[in-house]
Amino acid sequence: MNEGTVIDRRGAIVGAGAVAAGAMLGGAAAATPGLHAIAATKGRAFGTCLSWSPKGADAGSLANPRYAALATRDCGIAVPENALKWQALRPSPAAYDFARFDAILRDAERAGMRMRGHTLLWHYDRWFPKWLVDHDFGKAPAREAARILTQHIRTVCARYAGRIYSYDVVNEAVDPADGSLRSTALSRAMGGAEAVLDLAFRTAREAAPKAELVYNDYMSWEAGNEKHRDGVLRLLAGFRTRGVPVDALGVQSHIGVFAPTDSIERLVATLSPDWRAFLDRVVGMGYRLVVTEFDVRDRGLPADIAVRDAGVAAFAKGYLDLMLSYPQLRDVLCWGMTDRYSWLRGFEPRPDGLPTRGAPYDASFRAKPIHAAMHAALAR
Ligand code: XIL
Repeated sequence: MNEGTVIDRRGAIVGAGAVAAGAMLGGAAAATPGLHAIAATKGRAFGTCLSWSPKGADAGSLANPRYAALATRDCGIAVPENALKWQALRPSPAAYDFARFDAILRDAERAGMRMRGHTLLWHYDRWFPKWLVDHDFGKAPAREAARILTQHIRTVCARYAGRIYSYDVVNEAVDPADGSLRSTALSRAMGGAEAVLDLAFRTAREAAPKAELVYNDYMSWEAGNEKHRDGVLRLLAGFRTRGVPVDALGVQSHIGVFAPTDSIERLVATLSPDWRAFLDRVVGMGYRLVVTEFDVRDRGLPADIAVRDAGVAAFAKGYLDLMLSYPQLRDVLCWGMTDRYSWLRGFEPRPDGLPTRGAPYDASFRAKPIHAAMHAALAR
């Protein structure tokens, strides 16, 4: 692909004229109603993750006026990027540190945003606080693990009662390698992961009876994800069989163009039918859907910014169109509004070292074609 070509919003390779069109779409976004306003006309809600920062810091936080301007224009809902995780909340077995999330919640409420909670249990040793991985569970390990888990969930839910309307109760419990449930310090102490996950949801239901309870994971449709999808389906079916209170599947949606392609349209076509079959099974079991962490990994797209942005936009549109064809999907959240603070920059660097461009706004807070694509998808 040479520099004069771009991928247009339908996914075709077109001439340089579309570069101007793409730029216009990006610019026009600022003049039209925000994403949440558009989503709301369809009974849906749109939002983003928020981080904590001191006032005025250059960060993806409402305490940063430049970021707040974007977030409040586009978002009616929010979720903390890290501040509610055990690693942030639980410096030690006995202590809780709520200061950062309290500040995020206060600022979000002032801006009129409703809050989701992420996450009561990221069931993955890698993301446990070190003290929990190293914990001595003593002579009655199952009881001690249950005590730690239920106390955590009750404490968080009680503190934020009525202020968090939906929780990612459990995050990433299925091992993508084989579809089994991950083994963690808690599951080893309790004699199996199922007992841990069931207890987490049952405790959350008791402690936050009005909140939506979500199982959140990153299973995807590409070849190689079959076992992950199957594992999630087995888990969701098991919840139903055992009467565990789970309301929705959170589909993280860190989607990606991983390899060079000359047609985004063809790539979008690979979404069906495996992905639809998966989603149909999920809603068939009575679960709602939530898009919890949307962004686009752009590793397979060329360096050229106009081409890349057009590809990201076309792929985002194809994906969101499919997801939004499900009436069971109400909330759509992206994992950050601008490339400037996106986790992708550190976690999913491009092989060419260029900064990733998978968020709706660029690093200078300008709307990109993906913003217009999201707008169009939410408006449809
Ligand atoms: C990520 C954050 O964005 C990073 O800042 C942090 O260092 C690691 O976690 N799936 C999830 C999110 O459920 O919690 C992750 O967030 C991204 C992948």
